[in-house]
Amino acid sequence: MRRARRISSHIAPQGSAGDGNTASIDPPLVQVDCEGLPPQPFLKDCSDRLGGLFTVRTPSGKERVVLTDPSASEYLFFPDEKTLSRLNAMRQFNERAFRWKGGGIADPKVMDDIRAALHPRPSEKFADAVGRGLVEQMALWPATGAKELFDVCHATMHPVSEALFGPHFSEAGCPGLKTAIIDFDKEIAKSIYQQPLNNEEGHVAARKALEAHMCQALKDEANTKPTCPLGAAVYGNKPVPSKWGKFGISNVWAAQGNTIPATFWTMAYIMSVPEVQARVETEVRQKFASQPDSNGHFDYDTLEYTEACFKEALRLKATGAEFRIVLEDHIVTMASGTTYHVKKGQELYNSSYFQHHSEKIWDEPESYNPDRWLGANKIKLKEYQYLPFGAGDHVCAGRFLAKAEIMVFVALLFRDYDCALTSDWPGTLWANAVGVVRPDRELSFSFKRVQ
Ligand code: HEM
Repeated sequence: MRRARRISSHIAPQGSAGDGNTASIDPPLVQVDCEGLPPQPFLKDCSDRLGGLFTVRTPSGKERVVLTDPSASEYLFFPDEKTLSRLNAMRQFNERAFRWKGGGIADPKVMDDIRAALHPRPSEKFADAVGRGLVEQMALWPATGAKELFDVCHATMHPVSEALFGPHFSEAGCPGLKTAIIDFDKEIAKSIYQQPLNNEEGHVAARKALEAHMCQALKDEANTKPTCPLGAAVYGNKPVPSKWGKFGISNVWAAQGNTIPATFWTMAYIMSVPEVQARVETEVRQKFASQPDSNGHFDYDTLEYTEACFKEALRLKATGAEFRIVLEDHIVTMASGTTYHVKKGQELYNSSYFQHHSEKIWDEPESYNPDRWLGANKIKLKEYQYLPFGAGDHVCAGRFLAKAEIMVFVALLFRDYDCALTSDWPGTLWANAVGVVRPDRELSFSFKRVQ
């Protein structure tokens, strides 16, 4: 069931109700020297200087209107279908990153079916399958050793893909999945922001490898089988032309593209502060000791401190990347009282970075502090101040699954191993960020199995 649409009272189509006496002005302009999206800290700085709405213009003249004022977030997240595109991110994303036109996702019902397939109940089942896969993989680790953390975080890739898309995406069925997703992912943000790719050939080859795999699954009618819940949600459970596989790969990517870096930062931050790591270890070694239960179910609900670490890592490293196309001229009034004119055809952009790093919302926003989510210190948030998964009609469909798999992975790692970082803390690749930002290099850690 879709939520009722709401329209913020301070938004009005031009020339209709609304404050007819207020003169609206164009949002202030920021000329940047790159074609893609500038790093989030730069945009936040612009926001702090210019207010909650401004236009970024690239050297080729491409404009994006950046909305950072949380009081106007509702405008972005609860769009009036007559004035803003209902299909927004996923469709834009598909058209840009995969050059995919028409069909499938253009039907809003498909999104509703994807949501139903990823709801908490099915997600619980998928998470158990992922947990099982992780236990099997970790059983193959030596008792002591060293690994690259980002690489380790890919461990959920095959179990998740198999749980959602069936055996075609199992390790045996698709051994090249990891390589194809990594290669594809390297350039995806540039693709979305229509920039020249560094390695166009490699990107196209990786996209084609993923695509061929999804096309083969459709040729084999995988979506008609109960083992492929997301395939059935996307394509229906009847045979469809295999060329539709082009769209399906965005779902395979959606299931991995953000979860892997989110797992990375959650684990990395925990290991970066000895007291935090000690508290996580104590919690998971006590409360997660007998997981999974006799039914193969992993219960992570009682892991309060670990959950606080997950939330805090997402606060610092999730960027979102919500973009919407304005279909009618509007006037928008910011918290400051300034009224702006937003025009038909403009692209609106928001990132949770602006809210998550705001000094007006968080005490020492750049510090990693899981305790801000707990007990007497627990922060009281207003709507739209914490949005790692977006909000409104298009809030992330995979958020339950993402949380479940990250919680289970983190709990298994720190329950069964003593871990320690062994290389320097990486930087963050903010430019062109989509979803969850990536580290700019690997992070090594050593591990020793707990007896
Ligand atoms: C930590 C992991 C993840 C993060 C931070 C994340 C973030 C987001 C955000 C911010 C949006 C909203 C985009 C918008 O409003 O325009 C979104 C949408 C979406 N996400 Fe995720 N995501 C994650 C994991 C997943 C997973 C695991 C799946 C699928 C299995 C998934 C599937 C989707 C889909 C289908 C949408 C589009 C929803 C719509 O347009 O109605 N995501 N995600």
